Amino acid sequence: MKGWALVTGASSGIGRQIAIDLAKEGYASILLARRESQLIDLKKEILDKYGINSLVVPLDLASEDSVEKIVSFIKLNDIFLSILINNAGFGDHASFEDADIKKLTSMIDLNCTKLVELTHAMIPLMLKNSYIMNVASLAGFMPGPLMSVYYATKAFVISFSQALHTELLPLNISSSALCPGPVHTEFGKVASTGEIAAFNSISAQNVEEVSVLALKQMFKRKQIILTHPTHSFVVFLLRLAPRNVVGPIVYKAQGKRLAKKGK
Ligand SMILES: NC(=O)c1ccc[n+]([C@@H]2O[C@H](COP(=O)([O-])OP(=O)(O)OC[C@H]3O[C@@H](n4cnc5c(N)ncnc54)[C@H](OP(=O)(O)O)[C@@H]3O)[C@@H](O)[C@H]2O)c1
Repeated sequence: MKGWALVTGASSGIGRQIAIDLAKEGYASILLARRESQLIDLKKEILDKYGINSLVVPLDLASEDSVEKIVSFIKLNDIFLSILINNAGFGDHASFEDADIKKLTSMIDLNCTKLVELTHAMIPLMLKNSYIMNVASLAGFMPGPLMSVYYATKAFVISFSQALHTELLPLNISSSALCPGPVHTEFGKVASTGEIAAFNSISAQNVEEVSVLALKQMFKRKQIILTHPTHSFVVFLLRLAPRNVVGPIVYKAQGKRLAKKGK
């Protein structure tokens, strides 16, 4: 076994696949999410396929003492981490005025506050030469009307992640922001995006493709990880385009999605 990883949001989607691919690379994971049965199934799958024994932590990261609980668990098991994957997160597709404000503030809490708290608590428990990967999104490069808070949380993750990369250089811990576009996971269901065009577009990806690319780039200590060839061009254009032009374009795209949902 090469070392230990902590993967948040390991019960489905991108996090689940990353835990599988880390096992392929010889890393054992602490699998964290709320749905225990999914985590137990994943632990079994990883053990059967790769002979690697994962640890299961069924936990709601949003709960007040979640970070303290993870710290105690890791210390109790005498573990030092080689890899931290901050992946747990969700979105919400609605106009700001119609959105449930509690859902929006808990999104900020999970996508940003808990990610920061967990990273802060884990750094002393990480080995030198280790890796942090924060799951942001392509959405973090632009304003996102009709998913405004979600896009803003991902902009926060990108900025935080890049700043951390520089600060942690003396410890030889890299911090990468993974920025996928649409990926087929449970995200759309949780965010109530409905049947949206983005998930049927040519750049929509499956978790297997995203995870392999993400880990390859993380091990190269890349600060920003883009997962599709078209995304480099999109990010290039977004850097040139004035944000007051980008906002209305995204608004139109998201508006069509809301219309399709019948909102
Ligand atoms: N899919 C996309 O198109 C896409 C694109 C760009 C970025 N992303 C980002 O990728 C990350 C993973 O999302 P996904 O697409 O893989 O969606 P997903 O299938 O819905 O996975 C989300 C994961 O987060 C966990 N989670 C949610 N709330 C939690 C909480 N309070 N405490 C602990 N775990 C929690 C979920 O597990 P439980 O429900 O069992 O707790 C699940 O394992 C997110 O940060 C998302 O913003 C997704």
